[in-house]
Amino acid sequence: MAGNRSLRKRNYRMKNIGVATSVFFYGYLRKIFFIFGWLYDRMNESSLEEQTGMIHEVDISLERIKKYEKIMHDVEQMLENYSKDKALALQEQVAELEAYYTSDEWKHDYELDEAGNLPKDMKRGVLSQDGIYNLLERYNEIEEERTMKVLIINGSPRVDGNTTVAVNEMVKTFEDEGIEVEVVQIGNKDVRGCIACGTCYKKGKCVFDDVVNELAPKFEASDGLVVASPVYYASANATLIACLDRLFYSTHFDKTMKVGASVVVARRGGLSATFDELNKYFTICGMPIASSQYWNSVHGREKGEAKQDAEGLQTMRVLARNMSFLIKSIALGKDKYGLPQKEERQATHFIR
Ligand SMILES: Cc1cc2nc3c(=O)[nH]c(=O)nc-3n(C[C@H](O)[C@H](O)[C@H](O)COP(=O)(O)O)c2cc1C
Repeated sequence: MAGNRSLRKRNYRMKNIGVATSVFFYGYLRKIFFIFGWLYDRMNESSLEEQTGMIHEVDISLERIKKYEKIMHDVEQMLENYSKDKALALQEQVAELEAYYTSDEWKHDYELDEAGNLPKDMKRGVLSQDGIYNLLERYNEIEEERTMKVLIINGSPRVDGNTTVAVNEMVKTFEDEGIEVEVVQIGNKDVRGCIACGTCYKKGKCVFDDVVNELAPKFEASDGLVVASPVYYASANATLIACLDRLFYSTHFDKTMKVGASVVVARRGGLSATFDELNKYFTICGMPIASSQYWNSVHGREKGEAKQDAEGLQTMRVLARNMSFLIKSIALGKDKYGLPQKEERQATHFIR
């Protein structure tokens, strides 16, 4: 009996210990579950936040990429059918594209794409480094080609003389008109005359490799040529004439519709004779001549005196303005109609 009693007691104790242990573990388990549950909720919450944030970020990028894709497409179209009247719109859109390409936003969009966060089938031309770079390069090349240029040959041997005063007045006006201008003074250089050797027919350049051969590519790239000279014995400066003979004779590129203008500077007389002499270089090769409100002449004897010739300087400004207009109009005309049709040259002289 006694044995049974102690067995019951033990069983009872064991049962109680089991219950107590269960209660104890149950409490802990609940706590552990609670903690895991809480952690799980937090993790889910943060990944949800992250996910929502990412979706938002991708949406912003997609909108942005779409906007610049459109700009890029428009720029491509305009470059295909480029004309001067579209130049301004093109300039603004290219500037926008360029600003995006060099911004942190572009880097961000590019990285999102690289990480595979953007839709596979979307248009992503603006995210292609080569694509956007090549487009901007093409634009810059066309712009460079399309910038109107004037070359001025100053035939005076005197640096900062009166011819320079007249030329400078024109330079300012050309710049105001958005025309790129380069002045080369040749009157103070050692330039010999043409020797009629005919080498230029074979070589395409003058046998004497001096400033004339340097002027040739500048002349070819220009839309207009101004020739300015002091008057010497009712004629142009001899160095200038040597230079022009060789320049015009040795260059065989098409000069048609490059605009010419001549400027003459003297103390008193021989201006219009010199003016006529210089204009003849233009009219022998299809170059239209720009004119002003009076003969293109400026008066002065000692260096700088020409600054006092108000009418002469006004004539220079008007000449440069008229010449700019003519150059721009011819550019538009060339875009629309092309250059006049050429004929095969008939070369005859008085013997046959
Ligand atoms: C050799 C020589 C010939 C000249 N012949 C004339 C002339 O025929 N008529 C005239 O009005 N001035 C003549 N002049 C004066 C210059 O044309 C005048 O000084 C002009 O302002 C010079 O331009 P520059 O300062 O750009 O050299 C002559 C000057 C020189 C040195």
